[in-house]
Amino acid sequence: MKGKIEGFVREIALPDELATKRLGAQIAAGLTTGETVALSGDLGAGKTTLARAILGALGVREMVPSPTFTLVQHYDTPGLPIYHFDLYRLEAESDIEQLGLGHALASGAALVEWPERAGSRLPSDALYVEMDIVGENSRRALLRGPTHWASVFPEAQ
Ligand SMILES: Nc1ncnc2c1ncn2[C@@H]1O[C@H](COP(=O)(O)OP(=O)(O)O)[C@@H](O)[C@H]1O
Ligand SMILES: [Mg+2]
Repeated sequence: MKGKIEGFVREIALPDELATKRLGAQIAAGLTTGETVALSGDLGAGKTTLARAILGALGVREMVPSPTFTLVQHYDTPGLPIYHFDLYRLEAESDIEQLGLGHALASGAALVEWPERAGSRLPSDALYVEMDIVGENSRRALLRGPTHWASVFPEAQ
């Protein structure tokens, strides 16, 4: 977390996968070219599940594999190209550029699992989503990002 105090901050309870799907649709609705969604949390927290929900809401109908080994997967959606990164196996922070983050953000948006691995190389205007495991089917998401995200998430949910 960048230690930012101002901006958009919201905690969202995700009591089941449907709630995670709904969160994905909301994030998809607010996503525009040049934006990064940083998905952090332990293994099994739901980062890939949320990425799938975002992609599904953007119209991706194909299988969305976890990019654990490929490190990045590309999807053409009707609105904008999406690059889904999983940086768990990133060896050096600077490798993120070889993976094409700059190129991705020039034309589309990036969903980034394990953003910590890129250190400070992620854009500072990313939407950070930190997921916590609450119970077997229950998760909690803490969102932080630029203020424009507030319009996507009405106060009472
Ligand atoms: N509310 C929930 N939101 C997201 N995933 C959930 C939820 N409840 C259960 N799960 C399960 O937790 C697992 C999350 O795995 P995954 O998305 O691959 O996590 P990560 O990418 O963070 O390692 C999946 O098996 C998913 O079905
Ligand atoms: Mg994952």
